Amino acid sequence: FQPKVLAGKRVLITAGPTFEPIDPVRGITNLSSGKMGYAVARAAREAGAEVLLVSGPTTLPTPHGVRRIDVQSARQMYEAVMGAVPGQHIFVGVAAVADWRVANPSDQKVKKQEGGAPPQLRFEQNPDILATVAATTSLSGWPYCVGFAAESENLLEFGAAKREKKGIPLLVGNIGHHTFGQDDNSIVLFDETGHTVLPRAPKLVLARQLVSEIAKRLEQRSLL
Ligand code: C5P
Repeated sequence: FQPKVLAGKRVLITAGPTFEPIDPVRGITNLSSGKMGYAVARAAREAGAEVLLVSGPTTLPTPHGVRRIDVQSARQMYEAVMGAVPGQHIFVGVAAVADWRVANPSDQKVKKQEGGAPPQLRFEQNPDILATVAATTSLSGWPYCVGFAAESENLLEFGAAKREKKGIPLLVGNIGHHTFGQDDNSIVLFDETGHTVLPRAPKLVLARQLVSEIAKRLEQRSLL
């Protein structure tokens, strides 16, 4: 039984990878399974929140009581999130959003030409969903924005810097870069006072701890 620390709150979460098309049957994606984001969605729902999950392609079932919008590309995720942001109390960006999309996708399957040159892909930068949502935070502090960071080294240094760069009150760093697809994780929470390590545990356990840490911080800001 989980205490209903987010009762009456609306929570928007992104999860999973994005898929950036090259042509109608090919694309560029990453190894995010969506497990951490789905665990956060489930934990927020258990805590009494109304949860909307904007998900890239995953094979995971929708957590009970959670509303889900499926998207593929980063731009589709951006549109779905920006359309849903008004009225949200909390935004948690867990998705592994592609930094770049293919600028020149083909609307037909690209054919292999005997002896021909391979296709040339050009890339363009995708919008930063988290930073854009964070920039909409009102004077009253909503939505309270939480980001995730997967750094392979110098997590403590990069984590603190990334939190400031994104303009968010709370950033969750994954310790090590072997979290993708795993059932366990260990995380570090960075806020304006410093950092706290949550040791290795199943993603659902960490997600429940994260939800109570978010609720604690909202209470401190007298937002709850
Ligand atoms: O900058 P970086 O990709 O390392 O930041 C990771 C955090 O930013 C995650 O919370 C991720 O969901 C979010 N993000 C985003 N849109 C992007 C890139 C990252 O929302 N285009």
